[in-house]
Order: sequence, then C-alpha cells, then structure tokens
Amino acid sequence: MIDLRTTFMGLQLKNPIVASASPLCDSVDKIRLLEDHGIAAVVLPSLFEEQLIVESESVDEDLSRGAETFPEAASFLPDLQDYNLGPDGYLELIRKAKESVRVPVIGSLNGVSPSGWIRYARDMQQAGADAIELNIYSLVTDPSRTAAQVEEGYCDLVRQMRQSLTIPIAVKLSHFFSAVANFACRMDASGANALVLFNRFYQPDLDIEQLEVVPSLTLSHPTELLLRLHWVAIIHGHIRADVAITGGVHSAQDVLKSMMVGARVAMMTSALLQYGVAHLDTVRAGIIRWMEEHEYESIRQMCGSMSQRNVPNPADYERANYMRVLSSYTLR
Ligand SMILES: Cc1cc2nc3c(=O)[nH]c(=O)nc-3n(C[C@H](O)[C@H](O)[C@H](O)COP(=O)(O)O)c2cc1C
Repeated sequence: MIDLRTTFMGLQLKNPIVASASPLCDSVDKIRLLEDHGIAAVVLPSLFEEQLIVESESVDEDLSRGAETFPEAASFLPDLQDYNLGPDGYLELIRKAKESVRVPVIGSLNGVSPSGWIRYARDMQQAGADAIELNIYSLVTDPSRTAAQVEEGYCDLVRQMRQSLTIPIAVKLSHFFSAVANFACRMDASGANALVLFNRFYQPDLDIEQLEVVPSLTLSHPTELLLRLHWVAIIHGHIRADVAITGGVHSAQDVLKSMMVGARVAMMTSALLQYGVAHLDTVRAGIIRWMEEHEYESIRQMCGSMSQRNVPNPADYERANYMRVLSSYTLR
C-alpha cells in the first residue's frame, strides 16, 4: 500500500498535490470538485492589499506609493471591490468552504506594505482558514529603493503577520532576488512556516496597432519547473520552514521531482486549467504507478533525496553545471 501522505506547515495532507491560488478555488462548488478529484488542500485566490485599504478608507497614504510617481496610477486600478468576492465575500467563502470540504483551506493575501490590512488576516483566521499564504507580488520600480530596503520590508511584514496570527503562514516569493538562499533563510527567521517557490510574474505586452500596453497572461509550461527544482534542491536542509513548489507542475513526474528536491507539496494551476480538474486523477495514478515500479513505499521516503546535500555530486547544482550545460551543446 503506497503512502502518499505528507505534512505541510503542520497540516496533515493525504497527498502532496495542492491547488494553488487561482479562480479554480473561488467558489465552494469548485473547491468541492477539486476535493472529489483528490486535491489535498486548496489556496483561495488572493485578496489584494488595495481592496482592504480601500475598505478601511485609509487609502491615500498607501495608494500614493504608486500614485506619487504616476498620479494617474490610482485611477488605473481596476474596480477591485468585487474582485474575488470582495473582503466580506471572501470571509464568507472561507466559512462555507470549511463547512463543506474536509481538505485544508488556505487564504491568500497579496500585500507588501505593513499597514492596517494585516488585521484582515486575523479575520481570515477567525473565519476558519487553516493557514494564510502571503503572496508578495511587488514590482519595485523606484530606482532609489535598494534591494536591502525591499528585503527588510518583506521580513518586517512577515514578522508582523506572525505576531498577529496563530495559524501557519506561507510566503509566496518570486525568484527575483540576488541571493535567493539567504533571503529564504531570512524569511524563515522572520517566522514564515512555509515558502512557496516561485510566483510567476506577468509582463504586460504591447499592442503596436493601438499603441497600448496590454495585460498578458499565459499558462505555465513544464520547463518552468526546472528553476524551482534547482532552488529548492539548494535550500533544502538550510531552513526549518516547509517548501512548496508552484510553477510548471503538470505531471506525475513533476510532482515526484518536486518531492525529491525537498518540497513537501507540489501546487498546480495551469495544468488543471488546461486539462481540467480530472487531470488530478491521472497525476495521482501516475505517482502511485511510478512508486510501485520503483519500490517506494511512501512520499516521505523520497523527500529531499535529490537535494543538493544528498546527491553524490553537489556541484551539479552549482556554477559547474552552467559550464557543463553550455559546453554540452558544442559537444553534441
Ligand atoms: C488565472 C490565474 C489566476 C491566478 N491568481 C492568483 C492569485 O490570486 N494569487 C496567487 O498567489 N497566485 C495566483 N496565480 C498563480 C498560481 O497560483 C500559480 O502560482 C502559478 O500559475 C504557477 O503555477 P502553475 O504553473 O501550476 O500554473 C494565478 C494563476 C492563474 C493562471
């Protein structure tokens, strides 16, 4: 009997596949469908800091961070009040989901400035959220702000959230840091119970006929997983926080690789949007088949087995690999 169970920031999960934040988790019916197909936990789509600040009417100070540089910025913000059900609807979704499904429900907040909205995380906790994912999606466009200032701001935010909550906190990061391993350690020290690596940033496209900058969202490709595998392999064993991989997990093999580099869970969105939620059945069956064929008894057994610390040649994850990759092309 193959044991697919894992734990993620203290949550007991029946398998390592989690639905990451997306519209796939924006209603109780959709969450129930995911559960029917074996999802182990769900992350609700993010509520934005701006939505909460607008609600608390202390909007000026925080919105002006963007508006100072581009006064029109505030008016560019889409009408966010009803996005993702709005703050009240969001809490209601947490409550109803908790009544209707057995899998853990993780609320998600998108914010970067420590301000009044952190209190809302407590409301999410009260509504029954099993954990909070803090989605730090921030583009630092101010040339006078240094990397050290930005990073310290994130650490401060996580420390404040940790003080406000009793439930676990996961922090979803992008890979745009000069020293990813060091920053992961600092997030860990600031109180993050899990790191979710890595957020995908969406770059706007240009419409050269209308001369407009247009939003552009493409689903992920499995090759994006390699960046995540690489960094998780490197940080495994250096932090206490659990690690989740998000970005490019499409198949059973992708989930297995994620476990082997040291992740506790592998999150999926694009593949489920592309192939439908029933794809979860295929992925789970594929994991079990592979484990049977390779005589693995449990997911726990493989956790970190191919992390940098555990592979025979750790340099494969270092600069030496870069040189080897480049030379391998000419040697073909
Ligand atoms: C339509 C869509 C909506 C998303 N909404 C959110 C969101 O609200 N909050 C968040 O943290 N990530 C959001 N994401 C990012 C996903 O949670 C996920 O991290 C990303 O798509 C990479 O995983 P994937 O390769 O499995 O798609 C969204 C992705 C998509 C495609």
